[in-house]
Order: sequence, then C-alpha cells, then structure tokens
Amino acid sequence: MADAPVNALHNEFPPDSIEAKDLAHLLHPTTHLKHHAAAGPTVHERAEGVYLWDNQGKQYLEGMAGLWCTALGYGNAELAEVAAAQMKQLSYSQLFAGKTHESSVLLAEKLKEIAPFEAGRVFYGLSGSDANDTQIKLMWYYNNAIGRPEKKKIISRRRGYHGVTVASGSLTGLPPFHKAFDLPIPGVLHTDCPHFYSEGSSGESETQFVDRIVNNLEDLILKEGADTIAAFIAEPILGAGGVIVPPPGYYQKVQALLEQYDICFIDDEVICGFGRTGQAFGAQTMGFTPTTMSVAKAVSSAYLPLSAVLIPEYMHEAFLSVSDELGVFGHGFTYSGHPVCAAVALRNLEIMQEQDLFTHAAEVGEVFQQRLAGFAEHPLVGEVRGAGLLGAAELVKEKEPRMPFKPSEGVGAYCASACQEAGLIVRAMGDAVAFCPPLIITEAQVHEMFDKFAVGLDKTLAWLR
Ligand SMILES: Cc1ncc(COP(=O)(O)O)c(C=O)c1O
Repeated sequence: MADAPVNALHNEFPPDSIEAKDLAHLLHPTTHLKHHAAAGPTVHERAEGVYLWDNQGKQYLEGMAGLWCTALGYGNAELAEVAAAQMKQLSYSQLFAGKTHESSVLLAEKLKEIAPFEAGRVFYGLSGSDANDTQIKLMWYYNNAIGRPEKKKIISRRRGYHGVTVASGSLTGLPPFHKAFDLPIPGVLHTDCPHFYSEGSSGESETQFVDRIVNNLEDLILKEGADTIAAFIAEPILGAGGVIVPPPGYYQKVQALLEQYDICFIDDEVICGFGRTGQAFGAQTMGFTPTTMSVAKAVSSAYLPLSAVLIPEYMHEAFLSVSDELGVFGHGFTYSGHPVCAAVALRNLEIMQEQDLFTHAAEVGEVFQQRLAGFAEHPLVGEVRGAGLLGAAELVKEKEPRMPFKPSEGVGAYCASACQEAGLIVRAMGDAVAFCPPLIITEAQVHEMFDKFAVGLDKTLAWLR
C-alpha cells in the first residue's frame, strides 16, 4: 500500500508553476525522492502565529513548528525589525582573530544565564549538525590538550538524531542517514534506544528494561575500554527517532555510569531546549546535568539560522593551556556569531522571558498531554507519549500483543497526509505521528489541533478497513 499524499490528485502542474519548477530544479532534503516526483510539492506561501497558508489559500495549523523550530510562531514583526536594524548598523562582522561585536557577546551572556549547568564559553554555528560536529571536535581537542589522546570515541544511541554532516550524521542512529552514505565513521558507537514500548522484552518491567540497557552501555564501555571513550551524546527526549521519552531512572543511571568512567555527557538540546518539554531545557525535565550542550532551532525561533555549543570553563582553560604549543584554535565558520542572527536570537530569548513563554508552554502543555492521552483509546493507537508541548501517537496494527504495521504499508505517512487534508501539519516518523506546535499556541488552538488529528486518524482507520 503506497502512501497517498494530498497532491497526488494534481498530477499535472502548469509549466510556469512553482510546483513544476520545484520538480525540475530541486533536490529535496530528507524526502522520499520518488514519492515526491510522483506527488509534487505543497507550496507554503505565508504564515502568521501558528497558522500557515499554501498557494491554494488553504490554511493549516502548524503542528510541527516547522522542523521543531518556530517556537515564537510565524510573522513576529519585532524580530523582523531587529534584523533590519542590525543589517543597517552592522550587516556582517566576524569573531575570528580577536574581532567581536555586541549581539554575539550579549547572546553568549544570555545563554550562559539560562543554561542548565555551569557553562563557561559559547561557540557559535548555524545548524544543529554543525553544533554536534563542533562537540566532537572539542572533545578531541580537549582530550589531546590534557594528554589523553586515546580517549576519543563517542557513544550515541540507536534512533537518536543529531544531524546529517559526516560526523553528526554518524551520531544519528537512523538507517536512512547512514545507508549508501558510507556512515557511520569509525569512532562513533551506538547503544540501545531507551524506548520501553518498542524495545522492552516480553515480561520485562520498565525498571528491568532500564537496568538491561544501562548494563549494555557499561558492557560497551568496558569492551571498548573507558580510556577510549570521550563522550556520550543524547537528546533528552529523542525527537526525529519518534518522540521517545526514556523511562524514569534511565538518565540518572546513565549519568552515574558516565561519571564512574570519566565520560562527558553531551546534551543535544536542539529540539528540547527553550521550553519545549515543560521546563527551560530537556535536561531539567529528565533530571540530568550535562557536561556540554548544543542548541539551535528555538534559540532563534528559526527567524535566522543560529546554533551554539556551550562548554564548561575548565575545557576552555585546557584549550588555553595548549595555545602556545598549537597556535591558532583552528575551528570556526565565516558565520560563527553572525551579528544579524545573534541579534535576532537574543531578542527572541528576551521575548520568551518577557512573555514568560516557558511557563505558558508548561501550562498549555498539560492540556496538550491530556488531549494526546485521550487518543490511547483509539483502535489504531498503540502508545501516546511526550512532555510539555512535544508528543507522538504511535499507530499499530494490533495493540495487544503489540504488532506494528509493515513499513511498506505507509500508514504513518497516510495519516500525516490525511491530517494535512484536514488542515493540520504533523510529521510521521515511521508510524509515530509527532506533534510539536509553536510554544505560543493557545489552549483553544491545542484543541483545534487534536480535533483535526482525530479527523485524520479516523480517515486512516477507514482507509485501512
Ligand atoms: C536533536 C537534533 N540535533 C541536531 C539536529 C540537526 O540540526 P540541523 O538540521 O539544524 O542541522 C536536529 C534536527 O532536527 C535535531 O533534532
């Protein structure tokens, strides 16, 4: 059974249309290329708040904050003004070789102020992928600086998502990002995905599951040798792997293990950061303390690209200690700390604080989680899960005993299409349908979102029957 995208109805687009030109010119990221060639694109034309309109005038509720990023919603005029003013004053400046400027410095100060650990220094990039590449390079540089040249491997998790560049794509634990790209690179290891629902053995309790996968992690560390492992990287709640909330106690046991073997904890807050999970950072919701942290997406609410890596001061001191020996700290991008991106990100975070948006997200998040929980009774839904304004419903063929659909049936993709037809943008990752609306969403809009999901879900059930 192939999925049936909304645009399958339009198999011919006028040659001058954006649709036809899209099909002629673009190579789309993270897209099933053949399905796209058959179905054609949906053209987004404008957006305001939590709503988007396509070029047919159809309105959609944005249930995914774009790619988990438009926290402040669309069309914030103040951010547009901040960008314009910064472009007029200093459209570009750099941070190489001792140059600096106000917006990057003030943003670093703000990020340290709200970080969930004692951060010392901030390094800027433009994407979550480059932030996680930077994480790996900083771990290597640090361990070389302090005389531990063997301690270099990074442990990630199956179904984790950390980006697509050669190194961050290796950290990612999802097959499409490795297959035929010759990834992962050596030195990146993958351990268990902490999803009890899909990975728990029959008869196993959640606590036994946690103990088993934490033991597996320890076995991996011992097999490789703790003195060869630099860091463990984790999204507090796994996003693109299907919105997976690890069981209680998991992170506490992992953290204890990492401390025992002197392994850094890289916290990938690219989705979870800035209020998404009901607290400022996912590490706080899940109860662990990072060594270093990556942020992107909501840090600028995607008005402009910006990412940052936060490290403790002792890592920076180690870098300083080898400065004479190594010369230039040879890492940085032309756009590291782009002044316009930094000015917009800074104002974005200030607005979040002024509007007490993290509290708003936590409060509306309760309604969100209640509505999501209501779908557990639906015949197609095997599990609902989430925290704050992040969640997913997993569609299954049989609830008890759990039997998933075959991937070739495309049930998740069909459901996402049916939701789109009903005026809701969601994303299917396999058969997990994800929800991650802008944090500014109101309670009424949360109800509207799940009412539309109910329509899409019932249509999927009818289609299957
Ligand atoms: C947790 C996480 N880390 C890293 C990335 C990569 O970010 P980017 O797409 O900006 O490179 C993503 C993107 O979705 C992500 O969800």
